Formats: sequence, C-alpha cells, structure tokens
Amino acid sequence: MELLRRIFGSTLPPLLDGRRLVGVQHFLETTESLLAHLVSTQGLRFRDVELVGKPYSAIPAVQQSLVRQGCKVTVPTIPRPGDYRATQQACIRRVVETMVQAMPDPPIKHILLDEGGDLIGATGHTVRDLSCFCGIEQTRSGLPRALSVKFPVIQVADSALKRHLEPPLIAREVLTAISQRPALARADRFGVIGVGVLGSSLVEQLCRTGRTVWFFDTNSDTAGRVEQMNPSAVRCSTPDLVLRSAGVVLGSTGKDCLASVDAADIGRAEVRHFASCSSGDYEFLSLLRMGDASQIQDPPRAVNDIQVDVGRHELTVHNGGFPINFNREHELSAPEDIQLTRALLGGAIVQAAALLGRRRSRRVTGIMLSPGLQMAIARNWLELRPERRGDYSKEVLAGVSDRNWIVRNSGGSEIGIPLGFVW
Ligand SMILES: NC(=O)c1ccc[n+]([C@@H]2O[C@H](COP(=O)([O-])OP(=O)(O)OC[C@H]3O[C@@H](n4cnc5c(N)ncnc54)[C@H](O)[C@@H]3O)[C@@H](O)[C@H]2O)c1
Repeated sequence: MELLRRIFGSTLPPLLDGRRLVGVQHFLETTESLLAHLVSTQGLRFRDVELVGKPYSAIPAVQQSLVRQGCKVTVPTIPRPGDYRATQQACIRRVVETMVQAMPDPPIKHILLDEGGDLIGATGHTVRDLSCFCGIEQTRSGLPRALSVKFPVIQVADSALKRHLEPPLIAREVLTAISQRPALARADRFGVIGVGVLGSSLVEQLCRTGRTVWFFDTNSDTAGRVEQMNPSAVRCSTPDLVLRSAGVVLGSTGKDCLASVDAADIGRAEVRHFASCSSGDYEFLSLLRMGDASQIQDPPRAVNDIQVDVGRHELTVHNGGFPINFNREHELSAPEDIQLTRALLGGAIVQAAALLGRRRSRRVTGIMLSPGLQMAIARNWLELRPERRGDYSKEVLAGVSDRNWIVRNSGGSEIGIPLGFVW
C-alpha cells in the first residue's frame, strides 16, 4: 500500500519490537497488508499478534494466511439474530483472560486495537497493573466503554479524518454491495434511516447517482443539515413515512431503528428490502424477530438473507441483518481508497508504541490521533487519489491541511510525541 510506504518509513529502533498487538478486526486483505507493513518496517512479529475477527466480515483466506504467518486468531461462530454482541464479548473475555494468565514478569507492553470498546473495557476491568497497555478505539459507539479505563486510549474513532474523509468511501462500498445484488441493483427509490456521519454520505451519493431518497433521523438538527445539503432528498418526520415511499431501506443508526414501528404499518408499506450499514446485527433486529425462526439453522452456518412474512408480502433483510458491505469473500472497497482507513490504524499503532515507550508523567486517558500524522495522511492520500477530491466540501479539503482545524475536529487530548517521522 503506497500510502503506508509514504507515511511510515522504518524507525530505529523499530518501535514495535517486543510489543504485543491484540485486536478486534475485520479480516480483510488490507488488514493483512497493514500488519505485513508493520512487520517489515516497525519490528512487529506476527507471533506477537492476536486477533479476534467478526463472523460477518472475516474472509477465510485472510484468516488462514494470518494463521500461517504465526498470528493467533479467533473468529466467533455466526450468532442467531440478536446474539452478536454477547457472542463477541464472550470470545473477547476469553482472549483477555488468557492474556492475563500468560503475562510474564516484568510484563510485556501491549497495544489493544479495538472495534467496539469491549477489548479495552474487558482488559481495563480485569487487569490490575495497567501500566503496560495502550488502547486504540476505532468506533464512536465503542468510545464511552473504551474511555472508562485507566490507561491511554487513542481516539481514532473521532479523529477529523475518520469523521470527514472516510464516510464517502464507506458509502461507496455500500453502493457497490447494492449494485452486486440482483434484487437491489435496479432499485431507484431508497430510504435512509439515521443520517449521521455515514448516513449523510449515503444520502448524498444516492442523490448524486439519480436515485430518489427519503430519510429520517431522530436528531432534528442533523436531519435539517442533510435536508439543506441535499435539496432533492425528502426529509420524513417518522420512519414509517420512509417505509411507505422507498422500496429499499438502508439503516445506519447503529441501533434497532424500527423498534418503534408497528408490524402492521410495515406490512402496509411499499418497502420490500432492508440493508443494514451499521456494525453488528442491531439495525433491523425487531424486524428479524418478526421473521420465521425456523429459517435460521441453530447454530447458523452461514450469514444468509432472511425473509420476513408481514402478511401482505414478504420482506428481505439482506446479509442476515449484518452490514451489507461485507461478503466474506473479498473486500468491496478499492484498496487505493481504503488504505486511508488502514493508514489511520497503522499511525495509531505507531503512536501507541511511542506512548508506551515513554515514562508516563500525566494520567491522560483519551488521546488525540496525532494531528501531524492526520495532516500527512490526508495530504498523501489526496495526492494518490485526486479523483476523490470531488467527494468533499471546500471546507473539508482546506481543513485537512490546517493543523488547527484538525485539532478542533478531533476528540481527545493532544500529546506531543517526538517520533522522528515527517509528521
Ligand atoms: N459498514 C461499515 O463499514 C461501517 C463503517 C463505519 C461505521 N459503521 C457503523 O455505522 C453506524 C452509524 O455510524 P455513524 O458514524 O454514522 O454514527 P452517527 O452517530 O454519526 O450516526 C447515527 C445517526 O443515527 C441517528 N439515530 C439514532 N437512533 C435513531 C433511530 N432510532 N432512528 C433514526 N435515527 C436514529 C442519530 O441521531 C445519528 O444522526 C454505526 O453502527 C457504525 O459502527 C459501519
């Protein structure tokens, strides 16, 4: 990945030499490339990497390749609808218990690369001596749990680049996934429920490609902003109105977005297809629970589309209610695009290693992803992908090269670390 090569040269001494990396990750081709890059430039050893995958995104070939190279990996079994979080948490707890039992004296420094806050949370609430840990949290929903612990946590989740540069790339992945599904490829009436960081990008790209869009968000300020920026999209005051007009509904709230909607109303509506964009199985859970449980094997052996009979017609919840942009066969993003996301993680891992290497003078938990690093990633990525500039407003394009803007738009405390990189 060219972006990684540009951002991270080798460091002397290699910052990850003798460090363990424990993480919760999607097992995708670019996840493996990121690790390989850290091995070749930063002294990380595959045998010092332990990863928990996600059952809805882990590509078996990537998992096997990681194992061959010496990583310890676990992927929880595919859960029944509604059991995703508990299954994932149980697996993470086992990894944490083993990590604690195997901790040598003196302890090895650990970097915890988390997606959802459960790994950092379980470690922070199990281990007594926390001085050898530094966490990295990638999801905003996981931040409250990750920040409840008493060791440093780098807040990639609410870094300026994650919030402002990444969402159009994920929205593009979602539209690619839709275009590859025969039942959805020709749809032209879309609903979007939840128009935050990801949902607003979805509305924008759907409008740009000529689809008609109805959207709803419980936050009226957020909905108002999206309405202003997308004059052709129709703002709805309730989720039922979205269901009444759209043929395909995308959910990007991170919650059970139809919990307040009556089954009879769903039955009377126009909607036929539901596709989640949010992590886990929460988005259409109440709908899945209306489905015929006998369709789902116990335990489920694959992530399948689920049919729900609501009387007048049948509805389809695609990809078992898991995010539509993961198919467990190959990555849907162009590697040149998604290297942005991997570079943010790689940068956070190097920043965590640098933090672990210095004596702690202050008790700071939430730490900003280095603004200098963010500027370097944005500059290089936009140089490598000039065609993506059209996805962003003038304010964002100017902002990502302005340190003050990055600091204003990133969460966590800014801590200067002399790393010796260009950033
Ligand atoms: N599929 C992917 O590759 C991918 C990538 C990044 C994030 N995500 C996931 O997407 C989800 C959304 O992320 P985000 O960053 O846009 O979050 P966000 O907090 O910016 O947006 C969520 C929006 O949903 C709204 N909302 C909450 N409950 C609602 C409800 N019941 N009805 C209508 N609106 C409601 C909120 O007001 C908010 O505007 C999360 O689950 C996140 O983990 C997925």
